[in-house]
Amino acid sequence: MSRYYVTTPIYYVNDAPHIGHAYTTLACDVLARFMRLDGRDVRFLTGTDEHGQKVEKAAAKKGVDPQAFTDEISQNFRHLADAMNFSYDDFIRTTEPRHIASCQAIWKAIAKGQSPEGRENIYLEKYAGWYAVRDEAFYTEAELQEGPRGQKLAPTGAEVEWVEEPSYFFRLSDWQDSLLKFYQDNPDFIAPTSRRNEVISFVEGGLNDLSISRTTFNWGVPVPDDEEHIMYVWLDALANYITAVGHPNDGNALWKYWPADLHMVGKDILRFHAVYWPAFLMAAGIKPPKRVFAHGWWTNEGQKISKSLGNVIDPFELVDRYGLDPFRYFLLRQVPFGNDGDFSHQAIVHRLNGDLANDFGNLCQRVLSMIFRNCDGKIPPSHEFSEDDIAFVDGIAASIEELRKLMEEQSFHQALELIWRHVGNANRYVDEQAPWELRKSDPVRMETVLYTLAEAIRNLALLTSPFMPDAMTRIFDQMSVAATKRTFTHLGRTHGLAEGTALAGKPQPVFPRFVEEEGA
Ligand code: MSP
Repeated sequence: MSRYYVTTPIYYVNDAPHIGHAYTTLACDVLARFMRLDGRDVRFLTGTDEHGQKVEKAAAKKGVDPQAFTDEISQNFRHLADAMNFSYDDFIRTTEPRHIASCQAIWKAIAKGQSPEGRENIYLEKYAGWYAVRDEAFYTEAELQEGPRGQKLAPTGAEVEWVEEPSYFFRLSDWQDSLLKFYQDNPDFIAPTSRRNEVISFVEGGLNDLSISRTTFNWGVPVPDDEEHIMYVWLDALANYITAVGHPNDGNALWKYWPADLHMVGKDILRFHAVYWPAFLMAAGIKPPKRVFAHGWWTNEGQKISKSLGNVIDPFELVDRYGLDPFRYFLLRQVPFGNDGDFSHQAIVHRLNGDLANDFGNLCQRVLSMIFRNCDGKIPPSHEFSEDDIAFVDGIAASIEELRKLMEEQSFHQALELIWRHVGNANRYVDEQAPWELRKSDPVRMETVLYTLAEAIRNLALLTSPFMPDAMTRIFDQMSVAATKRTFTHLGRTHGLAEGTALAGKPQPVFPRFVEEEGA
């Protein structure tokens, strides 16, 4: 069975989960669910990034010990995963013993190897330069900008501070050619293409060696054989992707999942994943992942989202207000994946009432109600299909080929657009065939039409279920589709609906319209 290993970034535990966290993990969840339904052996990893100065400071601000602090905040990300119905297989925390062992092992492997120029990969020096705690990143003087109060800011807008301390360095500069060759040999490694080009020109511009240890605080993984130093939090964090599949235990069964098929990340953390990470891995003699996709950022009603502006979007509130699946649908349908997007309540209501309630919801409700009323509550016999009936249902099932391609490219909005073109066809088919008129004039044909429509709905629900698993489960349940028949092998006509199967009762709308409350 072909394997599929997909990962989310691990989230800093300095903060409450927000829409950005929900978005990144949702994209991975949809891929994991799609691949599972398609018969693949899937591993889906998420977790929390718990070391570093940023987390240490957040704990100190609350007056709590960092371990107790991370124990508490990490739970919030599990709650988000539950609230969003994320189907992860493993939730890693970087403070776990398995991860500390893995970090120390990758450090040793890097230190043991040599750079392509025949030099040691890790050497001891002193770091003197700028550091942004918010980004947990080092910046050169040339990269800095001046803030409104004359302060120095990183290009991300984060405040920087001057740091001078003994530090181990990774000889990144020697890995430039190997990285460029790797990008060339693996054209799909970085997506979208515009981001790939950015990374390539950054690497072509020359790489500085990277400081990979800190000595002025304690909250991190100790460097092997030098307890004065803790490992740079990004080296620690990136290693989570291999820890979770068994590194460094030779013979761990989970290692079959490496190299990962996809690291999903936001555009802000692409450089860490597409430059530093493959260089660390090559230096340690481990294969780099197959692909890194950098998605865009959400703004809130046109404004950058930030705690100081007080416009952070709480995913728990949106799930409560609009329902889980409409929120999931909106996030992946509204914006071409890879681009930035703007969140607005008007836009989500528009999607919910249009695409979901009117288009998909109405289709199901109309058809299932007609079957319930006119066919004794049972899936009617199909009798004889017309060529159009066959083309209509087979067309839906056949779109799996195109969907596979779109999912491999992470084109979620196009995948949904494609499914919704078939939803539109189905609604047109209802209007053209007018089964309510056939009831008297040609009841046999009415049964064929309703059977065809039931098959169309079942196929549409299968294709949609990675995006909206709960709502589609409700449709399958209403139609009494056997639990074992809810995978892509059951796409197509007559592969899942037995004639004469009783519906589970009077059909209920799956996507009720959203009605704005008075004064809301
Ligand atoms: N801990 C690091 C990742 C280490 S991975 C080895 C980190 N954590 S984070 O919690 O700050 O961010 C996690 C993700 O949230 C990133 O992919 C980031 O792009 C995403 N988002 C944060 N704000 C966002 C929006 N406003 N919109 C969309 N995604 C955003 O970085």
